[in-house]
Formats: sequence, C-alpha cells, structure tokens
Amino acid sequence: MNLNAVLPTLEKIAAFYDALKYGHEGVEGYRKSTDLAKFLPCACRLWDSGVLDPEKTVFLDLGCADGRVNLLMSYFVRLSVGVEIDPEILGEYGPRRRDLLEELHREKLVKSAGNVHLFSGDSLHPGTYERIHRSLGIRFRDVDLFYTYITLHDLFAQKIVSEAKPGARYLVYGFHKVLPRYEGLDVVDPDVGGGGIAALYQVRR
Ligand SMILES: C[S@@+](CC[C@H](N)C(=O)[O-])C[C@H]1O[C@@H](n2cnc3c(N)ncnc32)[C@H](O)[C@@H]1O
Repeated sequence: MNLNAVLPTLEKIAAFYDALKYGHEGVEGYRKSTDLAKFLPCACRLWDSGVLDPEKTVFLDLGCADGRVNLLMSYFVRLSVGVEIDPEILGEYGPRRRDLLEELHREKLVKSAGNVHLFSGDSLHPGTYERIHRSLGIRFRDVDLFYTYITLHDLFAQKIVSEAKPGARYLVYGFHKVLPRYEGLDVVDPDVGGGGIAALYQVRR
C-alpha cells in the first residue's frame, strides 16, 4: 500500500466516524468510541515500523462496537476482525458503512478491500472463536494484533498471554497518564503515534 496515496481516504474515514462519536458513562451504561483522528497516527506508526502487513496481518478488535476501527484498519491488514457483545451496537456497522462508501465514491476515494469481518458475541468466550474459525479459518492464536479501547483490557491481556502466539501484539487505546502493565506482556512502545493515548505490548517469546 502507498500510504500517501491512501491518506486522504483514511482522513475522510476518521472525519466521518468522529462526527458520530460516543463518550458517555452513566445509568445507561458505558460507551466510548475511538477517536479515529487520534488513532490514525498510531496506525501509521505501526505501518512505518513494519507491524502491519496487508498480505499477512490478522487484526482483532475485542469489542468492536460499530466497527469503525476495523474499517480504518482494513486498509493496513489482511483480515480486520471484530467481536461485539451488543447486537444492537453491532447493527450500526452496515448502515454506517453504506453511508461512508457513498461518500468515498462521491469524492473518488479508495474503497475498503472488503476484508472486514465482524461477529456478534463475547470475546472472552471460546465459542465465539469456534464461529470465527468456521467462517474465516483463523483461530485466536493466528491473530497478530489485538485491540481494545480500554474495555476489559486486563482480562483481555490474560487471555492473550495464555492463548495467543508468542510475539503477538496488543494495542491498548484510551489510558490516562498511568500506563497499564500486564504479566507476560512486554511494553514495545509506550506511546504509539505520540498522542499519549495508546500503548503497544507484545507477548513474550
Ligand atoms: C469502549 S467501546 C469501544 C468500541 C470500539 N472498539 C471503538 O474503539 O470505537 C467497547 C465495546 O466493547 C463491547 N464489549 C464489552 N465487553 C465485551 C465482550 N466481552 N466481548 C465483546 N464486546 C464487548 C461494548 O459493548 C462496547 O461496544
């Protein structure tokens, strides 16, 4: 991929989703969306450092909501997979993607490669990965890069340490000041993209 050629598309996707951003906590629950304008420099940094390969990389957002991070990442990876526990939130993916594609088409920007695969389910439940395997032929240990926007980050870290392949990476977005540490995971980059918002970890080899 020529990053410079696709950058206007990625910026458009970020602006599209950032106009529909969630950020609430309270009696109606907790929901926050990754700020894609802040996330994009993280993805570019991972691209520049060779962590992402469109021929190989399998990406998994462990709580993908409307799939916005998956859509952006689909330009950088082979498979962009997401799992979302709330079917109503996951249902937002299709209509939003359709509106986005219309805008990309109108502005003659680059369409996503159709490599986004989102699943309804609990990303801590083994049955979810059985369904993903039946559909895509990949298992948890085939994932190269895991992602969470802070949600269940410590539980996901435990699952990654015990079940992911050695060297698999874990990108955690949305911490405030104090960098989380996880047993069995090394900090590779404490400030991916330089925004003070995301850290990259790696399963010890
Ligand atoms: C903070 S939001 C982040 C959404 C999206 N990744 C983003 O960055 O915009 C976390 C999402 O994880 C979902 N979630 C929480 N627990 C989950 C689980 N065990 N399995 C799958 N999804 C989960 C929530 O419903 C919510 O949509």
